[in-house]
Order: sequence, then C-alpha cells, then structure tokens
Amino acid sequence: MAFFLAATGSAVGLGSIWKFPYITGENGGGAFVLVYLLCVAFVGVPVMMAEVLMGRRARQNPVTAVGTLAQEAGATTRWTLMGLMGIATSYVILTYYVGITGWAFAYIFRAGSGTFVGASPEKISGDFGALLGNWKVLLAWSSLMLLLTGATVMGGVQKGIERAVTILMPGLLVILLLLVGYCMAEGAFMEGVRFVFAPDFSKLTASGVLVALGHAFFTLSLASGVMVAYGAYVPAETSIFKTAVAVVTADTVVSLLSGLAIFPLVFQYGLEPGAGPSLIFQTLPIAFGAMPYGTFFGTLFFVMLFVAAFGSAISLLEPTVATLVEQFKLTRTRAVVYAVGAAWLISIPSVLSFNLWSGVHPAAGIPGFEEKTIFDLIDYVTANVLLPISGLLIAIFCAWVMKSEATRDELGMGDGLVYRSWRFLMRYVVPLSIIAVFLNMIGVLTF
Ligand code: PHE
Repeated sequence: MAFFLAATGSAVGLGSIWKFPYITGENGGGAFVLVYLLCVAFVGVPVMMAEVLMGRRARQNPVTAVGTLAQEAGATTRWTLMGLMGIATSYVILTYYVGITGWAFAYIFRAGSGTFVGASPEKISGDFGALLGNWKVLLAWSSLMLLLTGATVMGGVQKGIERAVTILMPGLLVILLLLVGYCMAEGAFMEGVRFVFAPDFSKLTASGVLVALGHAFFTLSLASGVMVAYGAYVPAETSIFKTAVAVVTADTVVSLLSGLAIFPLVFQYGLEPGAGPSLIFQTLPIAFGAMPYGTFFGTLFFVMLFVAAFGSAISLLEPTVATLVEQFKLTRTRAVVYAVGAAWLISIPSVLSFNLWSGVHPAAGIPGFEEKTIFDLIDYVTANVLLPISGLLIAIFCAWVMKSEATRDELGMGDGLVYRSWRFLMRYVVPLSIIAVFLNMIGVLTF
C-alpha cells in the first residue's frame, strides 16, 4: 500500500491533468489518445514492472542498483550510466515542472478570490496571458515551489505526501467527475467525447506518435529512476504486476477524466484545442465561473492540482538528492542546497520562455521546431527523446542482460502466462516499438 501511494503520488501530477489534455489537443485528439493508451498498456505496464523489480532486487539507489544487477548477471557495470541518465532526466524535468506547479499555486488564489465568477472566456484567457507575461511573478512562484520542494525533501517528510495522496486521489476523482458532470449538462459534451475517443488517423503525425510514447513514460514517472528508487522499499510478497496495473489505472483514469472535463468546454466556447500549455488555465476557470459554488470547487481543484504536482515534484528531486548523498558523501542538507540552487538557475530560461524570451526559438532550423521556445524544447527533449531512450535501455537490460531466473524469481509469479507475456513484451515489443517510433519520426520508416 505504501508503495502504491508513493508511486501514485509521483505518477498522478501535471502530466495527467495539465499535459495530457494539451498534447491531445495539439495532436488532433482520438487517434493520438489511442496510441497513447496502447503505449501505456504495452510499454508502460511492463516497464514499470521492470523498474520495480530492479529496485526490489537490488534494494539500493537507482544508480548503484543497476550496477549491482549488472554484476549479478555477469555484465559490465557501465550499465550504471543508464541509471544516471534517468536521474539526470528527472532533474531537468524538475526545472520546468516547478514553473507549472507555480501556475497552479497562483490559481488557488485567483479561484479563491472569486475572479472567475461570471468572467467571459476572453477575460479568463487575458488574465492568464497577463500572468505568463509577468516574468517576475512567474519566477517568484517557481522559486517558491522549488524552495518548498527542497525543504520537503530535506526534511524527509515524504511520508506526509504519501498520506496526502490517500485524501488527494479520491478528492481529485470526485472533483473531476463533478466537472465532467457539469460538461454533460452545459458543455458541448458529445463533441468533446468524440474528440477524445473517436480516432481520426489522418490527424496523426509521426511526431504525434513520438509524443504519445514519450508521454506514457512521463505521466507514469518511468525511466527516470523514480520507480526503481521506490521499488527498493517494496516487500518481497507484494505482487509487482498487480501494483503496477493499479498505479497505471489510477493515472490513466485521471488523465481521461481531465480530457473529458476540458474538451467539451473548448468546443462550447470555441476555444483552440491546440492552445498548448495554457489550455487548462483557459478552460476550467470558465466552468468554475459559471457553475454553482464554483468559487469553492475551483479553489479546491487548484489546491488538489497543486498537491498532485507537488507530490510529483518531490519525486523528481529525491533521486538526485539520494544519489548525491550516497555517491559524494554529502549531508542531505548540502545535497538539497546544491541540487535546488542549480535547478533554480536552469529554471530561469524556462520561465522567460513565456515572456521576455518568447521569441527565442533555438531549434528554428529543424522542420517542425520553428516555433518551439526553450521551455518547449526542454519538455520535448526530456519527455520524447531521453525518457524513451532510457526505456529502451531498461528493456534491453531486463530482458536481454538480466537472467530470466532472476526476473522470474523477483516478479514471483512462476513461469505462467503473465511472466511470459511480460518477457515477450520486454524482449521484442517494447524495444522494437521504441526504435520504430524514432525511425518513423526521422522519416526512415513510415507508418
Ligand atoms: N509523472 C509525473 C506527472 O505526470 C511527472 C514525473 C515524471 C514525475 C518523471 C517523476 C518522474 O506529472
């Protein structure tokens, strides 16, 4: 149960509520969602099982864990680089993640002070634009979020977050259902449902397929060291398969409900589905402004969004801190100070991407990347390039390097259908589909 709570606390965050809807909007809806769901089921579940089994078998931090398992399998300890890559990726994600957490935090006060009541969609979009335009305020919020994350990791109060998840998850589900109910009554509900669930493959691009794959890793906190780190605490008798399925289900339900709460509003008010990162901040406040007790529910929603994001932010920082402490023999306090200090510096270009540097497009020479800001690029490269590559390495490691006796023993379900399917997915389906998606993206393979 503790692992389920911690893993769900890490998985359910901005990825499900903020990112899933906006990338669904940018990538044309249904077909993208279908590819995403396939990735979650056939890549996400087996990779999560692999990470938990690695953590439980080695019972160490994600970097040395890989080394120990490589040794056990008689392979080179250079595999530890794979662990390092995961941690580095989650650390870089943290630097922009705190920025968006800051938006959610700012919106608690906006909702609470009744700013949405009766506000027109134009006013709501305008207000959000004004927040993004003000780099000082954005930087202040993101710095505060980083400090809070650092303080929590320093104090080792993650237990509190686990407990918060017990309240958060049911609360989040109730409020999302309420929003979906509101959309059924007042929004362009069927249009929203069709957008999310009716696949139109003519809208699916190579980049969309890569984004769906990358997002499966991102939203489930995979390939970033987190699940290996948490796996180290899983008791020997727990079923890794059932727990992984439970975590993935919780995350997916929250994502789909977010989509169903947002797109009916988008169509009702003639907003742009591909509006990008600002999407939920431009749509949900309209519903909160119009529904009965909207100020109350709106405030509650942004509090929960903030708590969900905060839980994930902690899991993004923790592996780096744990590794600094163990590898460089730093005190926990020092490790947090260094990690947070550097993350703060790295976070600045992301914050400026929404205002002063919104015209800076460092990859403008690459087709399809003309409009991408520094924030967009960091998000794109971490989620869609680094996480899938780490995932590919994990599959190779667990299914080709580790002995099958070791993985079978650790998954603890004998040689039955589930184990054999897992091994087949990890040996062939996961690596080949990741490679195929990359080849498709660069145009070598087309599907
Ligand atoms: N899964 C988190 C979310 O969806 C983000 C995350 C990614 C957390 C990788 C930890 C590791 O918001």
